[in-house]
Amino acid sequence: MDDTNNFSVSKAVDAIRAQCLGKNQSLPSVCYTDNELHALELERVFRRGWLCLGRADEIPGTGDYFTYQLLSEPLLIVRSDPETVTVYANVCRHRAMPVARGSGNADRFVCPYHAWTYDLAGQLKSAPLMPKKAQLKKCGLPVVRSECWGGFIFATFNDHAEPLNVSLSGLETVTGNYQMGNMHHIATFEEVWECNWKSLTENFMDGYHLSVVHPESLRPLTPTNLCDTLANGDAYTSYVANYSRAAPARKNHAPTLSESEKRQSRLFCIYPALVASVSPDTLVYLSLQPAGVSQVQVRWGISVYEDNLTTSEKQQRIEKWQQINFEDHEILKSLQNGLRSSFYEGGVLAPENLEGCVSQFHDYLIRMLN
Ligand code: FES
Ligand SMILES: [Fe+2]
Repeated sequence: MDDTNNFSVSKAVDAIRAQCLGKNQSLPSVCYTDNELHALELERVFRRGWLCLGRADEIPGTGDYFTYQLLSEPLLIVRSDPETVTVYANVCRHRAMPVARGSGNADRFVCPYHAWTYDLAGQLKSAPLMPKKAQLKKCGLPVVRSECWGGFIFATFNDHAEPLNVSLSGLETVTGNYQMGNMHHIATFEEVWECNWKSLTENFMDGYHLSVVHPESLRPLTPTNLCDTLANGDAYTSYVANYSRAAPARKNHAPTLSESEKRQSRLFCIYPALVASVSPDTLVYLSLQPAGVSQVQVRWGISVYEDNLTTSEKQQRIEKWQQINFEDHEILKSLQNGLRSSFYEGGVLAPENLEGCVSQFHDYLIRMLN
């Protein structure tokens, strides 16, 4: 965005900073409804940040791949050798055709337009009827900067973004004992939710709503009054949802868990747009990207600690989280309507143990938008 058309946006960002930075105030409605602010978020938050594409365990074997549209970029995520996940621009070097679709396993990618063929290392191996083979030597698929952390695959379009293993070292102390990287992926879903992407992030990181919005699915297990804040940093925030006494103990979990960790779920946000909940036996993540001010694309998935669950046990865990997500989505649809009201100017957030993560997320956003 150039300086000629963002004067009003920069004034809005100044006002939001004055109103909210470090003040435990919710954001004003303009943050959830204004198209110019939304464009600024795409440029300064999403184009600069680390964005989650999925789980490394979704592509366990060499040649396993899936494709994903991240912002305006078609991507190809492939296990290029047993130890390496590589993210390519899914764009043929000839005339820009995406070389792969959907997901699957391949030992090479043949462009469906004129059959240029790339190997798993992204190198162009053949280009039918092209005379100047020497010219083609440099026509490999472009590699997108990526990193795996905790079993999640991230990519960024920012060459200067701090490596995740540095920026998330504090989060490792929150989640490390749960051994997310050893969990087994069982399902992925792609959905569109009818709300602003920030509302979904705030909701996931808000322990305050648990007992009210989830009276049957979560309140008996993780009531609001047992939530508390955990570590936060420039790149993440987190909180703990302690289990009630009545909650049954989880049978299967990593041997590294402490007694208290066995009776907790830990919820975290890796800024800007990955939210996740890890419990002793289940990891659920939602990776978000905005689709305008009032819609968000959600790629969400479930991993489990056990490697021998039956189909019906897997289905039980999936259905539990489909129910939780349904309850949240219903609330967030209504919320978006309230956020459009000219009478809403932002409210006071609950104490740190209940909505501290929301406040920290806002501070992160304001830092990025300036
Ligand atoms: S666009 Fe891929 S071979 Fe022509
Ligand atoms: Fe919820």
